[in-house]
Formats: sequence, C-alpha cells, structure tokens
Amino acid sequence: MAYDVDENANRFSNYFHVLRELVHLTAGHLALESRFEVKALLGDHLHDDARAVTKIRRRLYELRHPSDYPGAPSDELAELLDRANTDTHTYLEIAYGELKPTLIQAIRIHLEHLEPLIDEPSLRLLTQLLHRQERHITELPAGREHAVFDDLGALPVRLRDSRSLRVMPPLEQPARDAFIEVTEHGDPYLTTDLYINGDENHVPTEPEEQKHFFHGLMDAELCAAELMARNSHEHPDMPWDFHVDMARQVWDEIRHAEIHDRLMATELDCHWGDFPIGFAYFKSIYALDLLGRLALFNGTSEQKAMWRHSHRRKVLVELGQEKVARVFDYLLADEVPHVHNGVRWGTHLLGGDEQAYRDKVRELREGLDRTGMPVQSSA
Ligand SMILES: [Fe+2]
Ligand SMILES: [Fe+2]
Repeated sequence: MAYDVDENANRFSNYFHVLRELVHLTAGHLALESRFEVKALLGDHLHDDARAVTKIRRRLYELRHPSDYPGAPSDELAELLDRANTDTHTYLEIAYGELKPTLIQAIRIHLEHLEPLIDEPSLRLLTQLLHRQERHITELPAGREHAVFDDLGALPVRLRDSRSLRVMPPLEQPARDAFIEVTEHGDPYLTTDLYINGDENHVPTEPEEQKHFFHGLMDAELCAAELMARNSHEHPDMPWDFHVDMARQVWDEIRHAEIHDRLMATELDCHWGDFPIGFAYFKSIYALDLLGRLALFNGTSEQKAMWRHSHRRKVLVELGQEKVARVFDYLLADEVPHVHNGVRWGTHLLGGDEQAYRDKVRELREGLDRTGMPVQSSA
C-alpha cells in the first residue's frame, strides 16, 4: 500500500526532527572530538545533514504548506533525542549507532512503499538521503548499529507543538589528538611577519619554515571549523540558512586542514603533531557574541587572509613551487563565501542594515594589532 500525502508528510517530519538534532549536536561536539580523522568526518557529515534538512523542509512545504509540519516529535522520539544530548563519546555512539540506523531503516521502508511515479520527488530525495546516511555509518561505525524503532516514519507527530534545542555549556577550548602539544603561545617559530598584509609580509619559501607554517595553518583551519560549528550550535534560533552556511564553512575549513595534512606528509616531510599549537586567537574570537565573531573572524581575519593567500601564491609560482601555490589558489577561492557569511549574517543580526555591519567591522578592527590579534590579549 502506497502512502497518502498525509502519511508521507508525517514521515518526512520525523526525518526532519532526527536530522535537525544531528546537525545541532554534531555542531556542538565537533570541537570536543580530539581525533583529527573523526573530527574531519563529522564536518563532512554535518554538511550533508544540514543540506538534507533543507531538502526535507522543502518537500514538507510542497506537500503540506501552509499546515503545521514539521510539528514536534512524539514522546518516544523525543526521549531518544533527549538521550542524544550527552557527552561527546556517548553522543557519537547514539548518533551513529542509533539515530542514523533508525533513519536508514525508515527510509528503506519508505522507498519500498512509495509510488515511484506519483511521488517521484520523494523517491529522488530519499534515494540520495539513504546513500549518504549509509556512507556516514560506514565511515564512522559505532560498532553496535541498530534501529530503535521498527519504523521511525510511522511515529505520530504533534502538529501544533515545536521542539526547542538544548545548547551545551560554553567551550573551554577545542580538543586535539593526545599527541598534540598545546602551549600558551603556540609554535614560537611562527613570527608575526607571516601574518601581516603589505610590503612587510613574509612568504615562507624554505622547507623548514614551510613545515612550521603549514602545521600552524592546519590548526588554524580546525579552529575556524570549530568556531563556525559553535556559531551554529549556540544560536539554534537563527534562520535555517544560517546553519547551512555555517555547516558549509565547517566542511570547507575541515577540507583545508586535510589539504595541509596531506601537503605536509607528501611535500614537506613533516606531520600533524610535529610542533606545538596554541589557542590564544581562538579564545579571543570565541569570547565574543555572534556579531563580534562574524565581524572579526569572517569580516576581518578571513577578509585579510585573502590578500595574503594571493600574495603567497604569486611568490611561490615565481619560484616554481606549483603544488604549494595551488593550495593558496583554492584557499583564496573558498575564502570569498566565508567573508560573505560575515556580511550576510552580520547584516541579518543588525536588522538588515549592511552599512551598520560594515561600521561594526571597522569599530572592532580598531582594537586589533597588525596581525589581527586583539591588542589587550597579545602581551
Ligand atoms: Fe580555511
Ligand atoms: Fe575560511
């Protein structure tokens, strides 16, 4: 028996609640997962799941607008989602051992029973969703995967209710692999002339300085991913597109870290963990409210990095270091939408006034030194 439109919308509502909670909680835990490989997979899956929520919202709109879907989850689903609000280790076991397998089982049932011609939009969406969720639990196996409900899609939905998302306590600092040495000032080899714009900028061109530079850059990418993830997690009431933009940037920054990790191993003869790292810059940004983080990180740090990436690329091309130069070419391209995330959501926070956002950026920049560090905290 194929589903009628109401049953179909009910099923999508349940998927919505599972995936939205996964996005919210993965964004909260990403910084607390110490293993680089796992952190990288979480960033990739976060981006997949955020886009899946967008598509499910769209399908619900098509099927049921203007009724009250997605509503709130039933008591039994709410109980499972509440249980997922826990420490990082247990969360990953529940996310990959219970939530995703439960979702996968329901999608399989859905695909078996839907009518492919009259409900082709759902068929397309669910086929892609199933493929991606299967990839997720293969890449990050929990070891004891099982579906919690026989059919998640058949659970009732409370149409006139909504579920609010719980926000975790503030971060102390991000977690790194146990073999990483974290110190107050990070790698002493990294000098300020690497991070200033203009004539005095120094481009690392020698093997020894490139080792340190890319190692520091890999950590900076992880910090960027973690900041964007926490921006999303800590502001669940922002419009959904904000969470999609943050998820996309998380994935970009994670990919950048993976690029540097590979470059170090293949070209520079060094590895993640060879040098110390520090969290002073991360902490200076994380201490700000969302508008301040967007203005100083996306609107200033990333905006100024664009000039340096372009400059570094030019110098390295002239020296014939094509492989290293190409990394900066792509970093530069990815930075453009990251800066725009600052403009888009900073403007949103200021009631749609883009000039007010630009004024805010200018005002906050006055408190920075030439490398972009807040003056009071850089002794
Ligand atoms: Fe980046
Ligand atoms: Fe970026």
